[in-house]
Amino acid sequence: MTTYSQLQRKDVNEIRKLALASWLVTYKNIFTRNSIRRQVLNHYSDKNFQKVARSIKAKKGGYFVIARKKKILVGYANVGEKNREWELKRIYVTPKILRKGIGSGLLHNVEFFLKSKGIKRYCAHPHPKNSGAIMFYLKTGFKRNRMGDIGKNSPCYLKAI
Ligand SMILES: CC(C)(COP(=O)(O)OP(=O)(O)OC[C@H]1O[C@@H](n2cnc3c(N)ncnc32)[C@H](O)[C@@H]1OP(=O)(O)O)[C@@H](O)C(=O)NCCC(=O)NCCS
Repeated sequence: MTTYSQLQRKDVNEIRKLALASWLVTYKNIFTRNSIRRQVLNHYSDKNFQKVARSIKAKKGGYFVIARKKKILVGYANVGEKNREWELKRIYVTPKILRKGIGSGLLHNVEFFLKSKGIKRYCAHPHPKNSGAIMFYLKTGFKRNRMGDIGKNSPCYLKAI
């Protein structure tokens, strides 16, 4: 059984480990190993987690959910508001157990949160070469939305909820 809960400080180190493991697989043909290590250190730095924590506490706050199986961290997802649009900033599942419904479970959880705030749509910006993530988004109801692109390496996929 997979359980979902909100991010706590004690989860941070496990998240970093999962992030690095996933990035090394996901982006192996896109970035070098050194670049991946640098980016993960940067995106999952203490400073960035403090930013996430502040965003969660803020009035229009974001949301960070983690998934565990038998107490082991197996995935996480994070949504927040940027330029008045809600965005799926992160969604990662441990590489050993892909295609078992954990990603869909994380999205379901995130959407429950968004709906509770009256939000009607949100977007994701996968790397254009990240075909696995793009297939996942299309399968789970996102549609390509060129108007929302942030440059050529950040195409927009939008989902109405
Ligand atoms: C994207 C991701 C979170 C999906 O999580 P998941 O637990 O594997 O997804 P699910 O099992 O819920 O998949 C639901 C459906 O999406 C589609 N799908 C998911 N991954 C897919 C892939 N790699 N290729 C094609 N279709 C895929 C399938 O239709 C799947 O249903 P099925 O397995 O019954 O055919 C996961 O693949 C992941 O962590 N990828 C690496 C990190 C990443 O790219 N994150 C996104 C950054 S923008």
